[in-house]
Amino acid sequence: MDQSSKSNMPNLSNFWMPFTANRQFKTSPRLLASAEGMYYTDIDGKKILDGTAGLWCVNAGHGRRRITEAVERQLSTLDFAPTFQMGHPIAFEFAEKLAAVAPGGPEGGLDRIFFTGSGSESVDTALKIAIAYQRAIGQGTRSRIIGREKGYHGVGFGGISVGGLVNNRRVFPQIPAAHMRHTLDLDRNAFSQGLPEHGVELAEDLERLVALHGAETIAAVIVEPMSGSAGVILPPQGYLQRLRTIADKHGILLIYDEVITGFGRLGKPFATDYFGVVPDLVTTAKGITNGAIPMGAVFAKRAVYDALMQGPENQIELFHGYTYSGHPVACAAGIATLEIYQEENLLTRAADLEKTWQDALHALKGLPHVLDIRNLGLVGAIELSPREGAPGTRGYDVFVECLKKGLLVRVTGDIIALSPPLIIEEHQIADIASIIGDALKTTA
Ligand SMILES: Cc1ncc(COP(=O)(O)O)c(C=O)c1O
Repeated sequence: MDQSSKSNMPNLSNFWMPFTANRQFKTSPRLLASAEGMYYTDIDGKKILDGTAGLWCVNAGHGRRRITEAVERQLSTLDFAPTFQMGHPIAFEFAEKLAAVAPGGPEGGLDRIFFTGSGSESVDTALKIAIAYQRAIGQGTRSRIIGREKGYHGVGFGGISVGGLVNNRRVFPQIPAAHMRHTLDLDRNAFSQGLPEHGVELAEDLERLVALHGAETIAAVIVEPMSGSAGVILPPQGYLQRLRTIADKHGILLIYDEVITGFGRLGKPFATDYFGVVPDLVTTAKGITNGAIPMGAVFAKRAVYDALMQGPENQIELFHGYTYSGHPVACAAGIATLEIYQEENLLTRAADLEKTWQDALHALKGLPHVLDIRNLGLVGAIELSPREGAPGTRGYDVFVECLKKGLLVRVTGDIIALSPPLIIEEHQIADIASIIGDALKTTA
């Protein structure tokens, strides 16, 4: 098909699309043109309900004027200024505001903020801080990081090394890492509502890896408190507590990757607050600016920061940073976003809707090919049985069918993942479930 012959279709040749089957996409493209509230509009004018908050990031819904105006104001006041040996007020202002809502609250002590440009950068930053911290406290042999199978920590070399998704890893060299087993267990936990009951013992994998590699080689362990990209994998009850205890016992830092769970996704400001288990470093991005401007931030415990503030005062303490660390426009977007979250109580709204959401999703049990349904906060997943010899095709077909019916979902293999904006209304939850139900029947 000659796409450019359609008047509203751009030439698709030049954009090498990320995490996309480029040739398949370019023969049957799906283009979104605008967005407002809970809905996208595609280039043909069709309204599409956003079941994924864009890509797990537009937590306050689309088209927020307050963010737009803050960005416009900032662009015309100070479009860019460096943060290497220079500063500008809004970066400090945003860091202070973030510290006030930091994961774990004031007692958590995660109030030192390192700005990045994305989730991947936040992850690599946190891994480097962990290694640098260990060295600063005289533990210079600790450079290995423990991750987990099925983990997703972005696409930097550090992130793919600790990540556990084979397609992201197989082609590329990696830094020293080792992996705990993942916690997905359909045999014991299928159709759990909220946190699964079985599997706390999987946290003992950290002990096993300490026994294999030696604690003195391990700087940190990184996990998503709830894995999103692998298809919504939840921690078994008590798992994160156990991980914290083992990490402490061996002088290993605990890092939570909250790029998805940060900023209200689970019904508390952060997963750290939801689980009541405080790590040493927290990575964030996505919802930090409502997805409007690229940005990420690493929250570090004050003790970690203080340990690095050593040596002569004219010496740079951490040789790390990005041109866009603390970008003024991103900070303006972030401050406006935080104000919206707070004024509209969005950081806890998922808790109010959790039961409605859970009931709507679990009502799909029994539909064709449904193997499991999982939910937590305003996150959900429906795992389908793969077609014989053609894994991923059923999931893809359901995704396309949902889109035809006016709903954007995300698929990972044969798992449909859902994470709508936190402004969603109950009737839109019902719409999501009903469209997915119809799509499952149509593609059966
Ligand atoms: C848990 C987690 N970490 C890191 C990332 C990477 O973020 P980015 O795509 O902004 O680099 C993602 C993205 O989905 C994520 O879900």
